[in-house]
Amino acid sequence: MKLFKIQKNVWLAVAALGVVLFVAACKKEYIQNVNDVCFQQEVLPIFQSNCTQSGCHNSSSRQSGYDFSNYEGIMRAVSPSDYKGSTVYQITTTPFGIMPPSPYNRLSDEQITTIALWIDQGAKDLPCQTTACDTTNVTFSSSVLPLLNTYCNGCHGGSSPSGDINLTNYNGAKANAVNGKLVGSVKWVSSYSAMPQNASKLSSCNIAKLEKWVALGAKND
Ligand code: HEC
Repeated sequence: MKLFKIQKNVWLAVAALGVVLFVAACKKEYIQNVNDVCFQQEVLPIFQSNCTQSGCHNSSSRQSGYDFSNYEGIMRAVSPSDYKGSTVYQITTTPFGIMPPSPYNRLSDEQITTIALWIDQGAKDLPCQTTACDTTNVTFSSSVLPLLNTYCNGCHGGSSPSGDINLTNYNGAKANAVNGKLVGSVKWVSSYSAMPQNASKLSSCNIAKLEKWVALGAKND
């Protein structure tokens, strides 16, 4: 019967579309590009900022035996070249991901991509390519906020930011620029707490960018 045939085809088409959508949803791919990922500059800051809070995976708390403040500690949860088989990938991605727990924010898709790509490339700690420090066009949106997101906002974000200092938005960053704490803490001036906590000092280039933004009036540019 013709009518039945059409209905059957429509039904088949809907079913096929469903299968395609289901497979696509299950196969979310985090690896989308082929640039070399540098461990010290791109991967380590993600772990230090998002996993090493007090009571978590730093060298004194070592929650669940993990210290994610350095390469050796991170490698205990990594299977080189097998990101899907790596603990750090499994515990940070949905549907089973449980880290970082509340009140901290989950990792962004971009951060997970960086980690997955680094693991896929062998999870090595190779020297990074050095680029000349360029502080000519420092703005809040293009220089300062990305820097704070990378190095600081695992702790200074979420629903209960460390030290009650939220650096995920302009107002929070500006307040700490004006009171001197932002520059004082990253330059490890003795009257301030040295930041980023549980990590090495920011590069002189990154410190220079923050200083320049503050010196030019900490604008919302
Ligand atoms: C692993 C967690 C962690 C990271 C990463 C981190 N902070 Fe902090 N930060 C804290 C905690 C906890 C406090 C509050 C206790 C203290 O002052 O030591 C704090 C305090 C501060 C303060 C107040 C300092 C003072 O002397 O009053 C500033 C400013 C600050 N952080 C800026 C930053 C910046 C900028 C970065 C990134 C470059 C950063 N933090 C990275 C945990 C962190």
